[in-house]
Amino acid sequence: MDQAQQLRNVIKRREQNNLRDDLSQMARIVTITSGKGGVGKSNFAVNLAVQLSKAGKRVIIFDADFGLANVEVMFGAVPQYNLSDFLYRRKGIQDIITPGPLDIGFISGGSGIIGLNNLDREQITDLVRSVDLLNDIADFILIDTGAGISEQVLEFVVASPEVLLISTPEPSSLTDSYSLLKALYRHPNFVVDATRIHVVSNRVVSEDEGQAVYDKLNSVVSQFLHGQLDYLGLIPQDAALERAVKQQKTVSISDPNSRSAKAFAALAANFLNGTRNPVSVHWGIAQMLSNFLMSRK
Ligand SMILES: Nc1ncnc2c1ncn2[C@@H]1O[C@H](COP(=O)(O)OP(=O)(O)OP(=O)(O)O)[C@@H](O)[C@H]1O
Ligand SMILES: [Mg+2]
Repeated sequence: MDQAQQLRNVIKRREQNNLRDDLSQMARIVTITSGKGGVGKSNFAVNLAVQLSKAGKRVIIFDADFGLANVEVMFGAVPQYNLSDFLYRRKGIQDIITPGPLDIGFISGGSGIIGLNNLDREQITDLVRSVDLLNDIADFILIDTGAGISEQVLEFVVASPEVLLISTPEPSSLTDSYSLLKALYRHPNFVVDATRIHVVSNRVVSEDEGQAVYDKLNSVVSQFLHGQLDYLGLIPQDAALERAVKQQKTVSISDPNSRSAKAFAALAANFLNGTRNPVSVHWGIAQMLSNFLMSRK
């Protein structure tokens, strides 16, 4: 039996045991991505985490921007261990979580995920069990992906029940968002009903401009890919946010009355009030990680 098959069996048994058939016990997994780099993903991830945390939710950010330590710079926390220590060097899942402000946990992706080739059956079972522990300590797992449309980013998006697509009104950002969506819809493992995609319009100057970003993307997706996007909301262009970034601060903490911080709060509330993708009942973090690991074989 190959390792992918072993992993599938472990997950299947876990599901059959119905360990967690209650949706409220599963951490909600949200992948934050964009077509074009530099449009505000990492900022968004950290500010959404802060707003969710202020709303009483337990949040873990997973920095899947392998190599470039985006979130750690913003957090001012240097992680001692990363995902590779967990996957390949038998560190516990708790050991690789670095505490940040407002009790937000942070997991660094390290230098990448290479697959499962060196793990035996027992290690795989262990891995799935310990990833599952995240459901006990987090309500939300936010995954911040790297720049550009790489296979690795697509695999994360495909494996996620919920995706936040950050786009700005710039034509190049819209075109690149569409390229990402096209690559996603054509990806062999993408299942339309299993992934809900919410658009966030960033750096806009008005409500109308934010809505237009969504309308443009949704119309090409429905016309050419026969898909459907949701609109989560907008974050305005805000000098206060740029100032906060320069000081390595998070605007939602350092300047809660700024326009962007208020928009992050409103957007987080929308997100909390919205229904979550029912697929996540059987698609927790363990399933997601295993989908991802299997796709790397
Ligand atoms: N709403 C906003 N208002 C003003 N400036 C913004 C806003 N959002 C993002 N920026 C600016 O854009 C810069 C890039 O943001 P960020 O690092 O979050 O992008 P990213 O998408 O994570 O980039 P990468 O693709 O390289 O990971 C920020 O440092 C900030 O200066
Ligand atoms: Mg980033």
